[in-house]
Amino acid sequence: MQQSQSGLKACVEEYRNQNPRSRELYERALKILPAGNTRASVLFDPFPTYMVRGEGCRAWDVDGNERIDFLNNYTSLIHGHRAPQVIAALEQQLGRGTAFASPTEHELQLAELIQQRVPSLERLRFTSSGTEATLMAIRTARAFTGRDKIAKIEGGFHGAHEHVQISISPNLDRAGPEDHPVGLAEGPGIPQNVLDNVVVIPFNNPAAIESILDPIARSVAAIIVEPVMGAGGIIKPTAGFLAFLREYTRRHQMLLIFDEVIAFRLSFNGAQGYFGVTPDLTSLGKIIGGGLPVGAFGGRADIMAVFESPRGGGVTHPGTFNGYPPAMVAGIATLEALTPDSFTQLEQSASRMAATLERLFAKHQFPAQVTQIGSLFNIHTSTHPISNYRTSANHNVPLKHALHLGLLNHGFVLAPRGMGCLSTVIGQSEIDSLVQAVESVIGIIGRGDLSN
Ligand SMILES: Cc1ncc(COP(=O)(O)O)c(C=O)c1O
Repeated sequence: MQQSQSGLKACVEEYRNQNPRSRELYERALKILPAGNTRASVLFDPFPTYMVRGEGCRAWDVDGNERIDFLNNYTSLIHGHRAPQVIAALEQQLGRGTAFASPTEHELQLAELIQQRVPSLERLRFTSSGTEATLMAIRTARAFTGRDKIAKIEGGFHGAHEHVQISISPNLDRAGPEDHPVGLAEGPGIPQNVLDNVVVIPFNNPAAIESILDPIARSVAAIIVEPVMGAGGIIKPTAGFLAFLREYTRRHQMLLIFDEVIAFRLSFNGAQGYFGVTPDLTSLGKIIGGGLPVGAFGGRADIMAVFESPRGGGVTHPGTFNGYPPAMVAGIATLEALTPDSFTQLEQSASRMAATLERLFAKHQFPAQVTQIGSLFNIHTSTHPISNYRTSANHNVPLKHALHLGLLNHGFVLAPRGMGCLSTVIGQSEIDSLVQAVESVIGIIGRGDLSN
């Protein structure tokens, strides 16, 4: 711990030296944006980097630092920055206009493209964000079943709305037993009646889920789950866990919602195709908008029929930017450039990279590990097995912070929590240089100074 504290100090000092203009902008931001920020996930200490440009797998900040981007706007840019086919589609669309108070054919094309890949989406609708996609998927489940409660995974992230801003990163002193977690609001402003209607369940623990949900099963509309926990640390489902959820929800006439906002990038057929488990409803976002704001939700036609008569007692779903044409055309261009082979290659590269990093950590006896699946990975500063929120949350925090800043200082962008992903424009040489940078940063953290 001592070592990681002094390593952290060295990394912070170098980060400050490299980023004076970002610091100035952050100080200006503090005067107008609460906490100096408008997006919680991009804020970190001592201040975030302010970006000006991206091209392919590289991005440049206001201080002229060039970095290889292994975060890709939190997994949403699967072809990297300014992918030529996306830019061409956008330029054409901008020439025609940005938005109309009418539908466009593009939303049909993107919907059809998604449905061809994920057949369980018999009917779907677009939103402007993943947050709205999960909000509407939950609304749909409640409308269809007539039940109010939903169950969500402890540590699961589904966006910013109230019903999912519960137990995302709960304080373990207050979170109750691991096999019977207490649902905790992520912050003030979540009404008690919302908390009363959200049941928190642990990932990868069928016995605990049965014991929590069995007594209230008749009032639970749906279980919402990321097939792979994303923000929680790229945590894979154990063998049979998703199949258990499928069987359990069916047994109790609950719906199963897969939140594939991140996990859709696991395969050509999304996470449900990857794992061979079909949910009733699915929420999507990120890559289906090709880098523009987007979301979608949908599923079985009989369930989505709750939207069929919006003026006759059905569920309504307004939204000025639903089906936003630039996002639709960018999404089409992005998906058309993704073949089954693209996903295989992404997974092979990411898995080789994870294995190389693991060997590096072992060689230096550095207390870290990598979780990885498909193109997604997360470096954790811990060595015990990770299977749920509790095991992921138990890590060396200063070491994680030092690793993040150290990698930024060496020209690599990862999430502060250690998450990253490959894009189709990241090649072996970029992966090799990330591995080298991790080795250099380990050296700095180990010595607690800046000499490299
Ligand atoms: C699994 C998951 N669901 C929902 C969301 C919310 O999406 P958005 O940020 O587009 O609102 C995210 C965002 O990271 C996510 O990871």
